[in-house]
Amino acid sequence: MTDPFQNVDAAGPEFIKLFADSMDQRQADPIMERIVTAYLDHLHVTRASTVVEVGAGAGAVTRRIASRCHPAEVVGFELSKGFVSEANDRAKEYSNLTFKVADGAALPLEDEAVDAVIMHTVLTHVEDPDSLVAEAFRVLKPDGLLIRCDADFSKARFSSFPNDPLNICAKEFVREFVTDPFVVAKLRPMIADAGLSVRHFDVQSRVVSTPEHMLPWVDLTTKQMYERGDIGEELAAGLVAEHERRARNGSLYGYQVFATEVAAKAA
Ligand SMILES: C[S@@+](CC[C@H](N)C(=O)[O-])C[C@H]1O[C@@H](n2cnc3c(N)ncnc32)[C@H](O)[C@@H]1O
Repeated sequence: MTDPFQNVDAAGPEFIKLFADSMDQRQADPIMERIVTAYLDHLHVTRASTVVEVGAGAGAVTRRIASRCHPAEVVGFELSKGFVSEANDRAKEYSNLTFKVADGAALPLEDEAVDAVIMHTVLTHVEDPDSLVAEAFRVLKPDGLLIRCDADFSKARFSSFPNDPLNICAKEFVREFVTDPFVVAKLRPMIADAGLSVRHFDVQSRVVSTPEHMLPWVDLTTKQMYERGDIGEELAAGLVAEHERRARNGSLYGYQVFATEVAAKAA
């Protein structure tokens, strides 16, 4: 199966609603809030600034950017019409925020029009990340910032002991819902090729111990394995029940790594 985040509208309204809620929940996690707050601290915006998020989804991060940058203008560009509609519904009280349907490789912006471009968990889902970075370079003003934050999906785990059977759900999620699990390792070489220079790079661990945050991984992967006929109903239900059991008794341990990079266009 192709990563559904390459064409969310084709994945259908149920997928759009599920992931709009799931991304809101992920962003409400204090670890994710710290990661986003830390990279937004690199921005020096004025009333006249324009900041864009490319691949804004339903706007979970774009709303944080709009609060942090107010009253500067913030625009969320997103490939999926369904997500743009969700994003608009969820951002009614933000006066400095708009969402537009657009491909991050062909933004409806003049050259050197914006102060910062943010890509949050997008590049792991695209076939040609260089094209989005080249487009960001085109639209950035001199001295403008490109901020990229992505999960290193090659390290994502549900492993509490050797051969933990729940880890099959993490592996399956990465196989079915991610285009390039190793993109984080390529961020710095990519940025040098694009003519930008790295000002900051770090990685943060995220441990998920609460039921709601990674449950979609388990629900969706077991449903798909069952529908493909790879596993029976009992095992699918058993994996979901095991996730719930660990969440209940406090032993759930989902592990992810997020990398943040801040790069600048020459002044
Ligand atoms: C995992 S979601 C992240 C959404 C949002 N940044 C967040 O963290 O809540 C990845 C998003 O990238 C979008 N996307 C994928 N390819 C894109 C492209 N070429 N241009 C614009 N958006 C794209 C998908 O539609 C999806 O909404």
